[in-house]
Amino acid sequence: MLQIKNLTKVFPDGTVALRDVSFEVQDGEFLAIIGLSGSGKSTLLRCINRLIDPTSGTILWDGVDVTAANSAELRQIRRQIGMIFQHFNLVRRSSVMTNVLAGRLGYVHPFWSLIGRFSADDRRRAVAALERVGIEDKADNRADQLSGGQQQRVGIARALMQEPRCSWPTSRWPASTPCSPTPSCATLNSSTSKTASCAACTSWTSSTAMPPGLSG
Ligand SMILES: Nc1ncnc2c1ncn2[C@@H]1O[C@H](COP(=O)(O)OP(=O)(O)OP(=O)(O)O)[C@@H](O)[C@H]1O
Ligand SMILES: [Mg+2]
Repeated sequence: MLQIKNLTKVFPDGTVALRDVSFEVQDGEFLAIIGLSGSGKSTLLRCINRLIDPTSGTILWDGVDVTAANSAELRQIRRQIGMIFQHFNLVRRSSVMTNVLAGRLGYVHPFWSLIGRFSADDRRRAVAALERVGIEDKADNRADQLSGGQQQRVGIARALMQEPRCSWPTSRWPASTPCSPTPSCATLNSSTSKTASCAACTSWTSSTAMPPGLSG
């Protein structure tokens, strides 16, 4: 059984990803965690297997306090929890803006691209692309500080920078991505004449033989 009590996670930059979350999952019970992009689903899952430390609150896994577990206990707990991560081939340590500008590499002289010089026009395009996918406020964040869906949107903004003429396959657009101010799939699709398909949800199951089923 999993018990989450008053879980809060505040990142060093002040982002409150989880605020006082409490719930229980019995063995054999199936729980789907569904929420807006950036609402804290992955943060919750990362806290549960202590990939990150919660700011406060308690996580009990079969009665063992995960937040206080020593490394041997943690190994034992992690063996029972499968996770599937989101990957979007971003340069994780680089800023969102740098990742988006990388979409212009095909248009920039190799010398300037090597030293990371992009024109003011390219920067304007990058801001516009980020606005289009609704994450312009994250331009200066490192890519690995973004949620999975937000990283996915960086990938889309980068693709928009390429001004591709043919459809691009977007394997997973978070179903929960808000239509406003973020453009919905359909809006993005019609305004760019590109295809975009979608499906996303974060789910996990609690049982004695837990399958690798966490996604986020
Ligand atoms: N290391 C970090 N530093 C600062 N903020 C972060 C960090 N990691 C995540 N965040 C922020 O915390 C919030 C929750 O992120 P999280 O990854 O949990 O969202 P999510 O619900 O999984 O979203 P998605 O459906 O897009 O995957 C987001 O606003 C995100 O930008
Ligand atoms: Mg996520």
